[in-house]
Amino acid sequence: MTEALHWLEKAVLRSLYELGGAASYEELAAKAVSTVPGWGRDGVSMLSSVAKACGWLRDKGYVTVEEERSRKFVTLDAEGEEYVVKGLPERRVVEFLQRRGGEASIDEVKALERADVGLMWARRRGWVEFTKKNDATMVVLKGPVPPSTDVEDFLRELKRDGEVEVPDAGALREVVDELLRRRHVVKLVERPVRKVVLTEKGREAASLLEETVVPEVTRLTPELIRTGRWRELKLSRYDVRAPTPPVFAAKRHPLTELIRMVRQAYVEMGFEEIEGPIVELAFWNFDALFQPQDHPAREMQDTFYLLEPRAGDPPAQHVEAVRRVHENGGDTGSKGWRYKWSLEEARRLLLRTHTTATTIRHLATVKQPPVKVFCVDRIFRNEKVDWKHLAEFHQIEGIVVERDASLRMLMGVLRDFYSRLGLREIRFKPSYFPYTEPSMEVEVRLGGRWLELGGSGIFRPETTYPFGVKHPVLAWGLGLERLAMVIYGLEDIRTFHLNDLGWLRNVSPFQAFRTMRGM
Ligand code: PHE
Repeated sequence: MTEALHWLEKAVLRSLYELGGAASYEELAAKAVSTVPGWGRDGVSMLSSVAKACGWLRDKGYVTVEEERSRKFVTLDAEGEEYVVKGLPERRVVEFLQRRGGEASIDEVKALERADVGLMWARRRGWVEFTKKNDATMVVLKGPVPPSTDVEDFLRELKRDGEVEVPDAGALREVVDELLRRRHVVKLVERPVRKVVLTEKGREAASLLEETVVPEVTRLTPELIRTGRWRELKLSRYDVRAPTPPVFAAKRHPLTELIRMVRQAYVEMGFEEIEGPIVELAFWNFDALFQPQDHPAREMQDTFYLLEPRAGDPPAQHVEAVRRVHENGGDTGSKGWRYKWSLEEARRLLLRTHTTATTIRHLATVKQPPVKVFCVDRIFRNEKVDWKHLAEFHQIEGIVVERDASLRMLMGVLRDFYSRLGLREIRFKPSYFPYTEPSMEVEVRLGGRWLELGGSGIFRPETTYPFGVKHPVLAWGLGLERLAMVIYGLEDIRTFHLNDLGWLRNVSPFQAFRTMRGM
């Protein structure tokens, strides 16, 4: 229990023990000289080392340092010094009158040093009174005058001791108060006094220590090694469990961290990552996904369209097939939306509103199963920013193209994905998207609540046939920030972008996952 202590701590602990378990820094410093043989010549030079060691010991619970309490002392001031030698002014008045047979004229008395003060206090104490005699004012001794007063006794004591502590109350306190009122007689000095007291743990540790403590070195220098002096020295032990100040090293943003975990999960499931452009053609974002050109999501409120450049060109080989599917269903067996499809509308450039634009783009290039790809990327929607909405956020998107892909398989893939992130309870609800049939909402359960985290489904023939894909395509798009809020226990989605250093420094995804899972 005492091994990890610094030798200074040992010295203080042992000194305190021998002083009965409670002492001031000064007393400790004086005692430490004998506890550590050969250490310094006097207690004064060790005061700061002792104070330092007391601080460490207090942090470790070996001692308590009594509340910094201020003690008041008085010392003699200039006039006080004079009074100790010559007597108080009132005493001098009385002695003068005694020498004059009990009375003297006021003028004679006034010739004495500090006569005004003397007269005032002599009258106040009832030692003298004034009378009239042939028009002259006389000072008359009234008696009885004690040979010495408490005040005079106290001044002598003060002279002898240099300082006296001011008591909280009582007769002595009244004496001190009177002297303080008289000004320049005594001076008040305040000093903080700290008392170091052994705790139970401290007492136990101290009792195990040797009576004397050998100074130790904490650093083995080349010098000590070369000279062989290390042989005579005691080396300090390290306490590897000692508390240290927190260090905030560089780290990834919590969202980036989560994105990395999402990637990890998909890669473990055998998926490959794909990327697509943020500035996208309406063709890929909407038309390829069989969203009619008058669909409300295409309106300006939801989609950020580009002013410059305003439009681009969809791949010519796909344009006709997409047009046919919209207008009459083409060879999908569907009747289509039955309106006149506009290439101009499909040519518009916008900020991708979902990453499904990226998966359909990819699908148009691969066609043949097996396809298992995902992307975690940024999307944009013209939303009013509030505690649960951002205008710029991320989606976790994926598709699987398999010969026998089914809804059951889709549910399995999503369940697998979320369980890799520690979310084991998920459920599906029927839903609608223009590009999937059937469509499902994905919900995750957390702390008694079901949270909607994304959409999914099997791509309709209207979205796959135009690109020559004849096999079932499982597709899903999940919110990243919503998931992140759940994991990091946030109430406000904006927290991710506030750059609150306090939060960023302390947040840990691993800890967050554990907390989320109630571990
Ligand atoms: N794109 C849809 C959204 O943004 C999610 C989705 C993706 C739904 C794929 C079905 C299939 O909400």
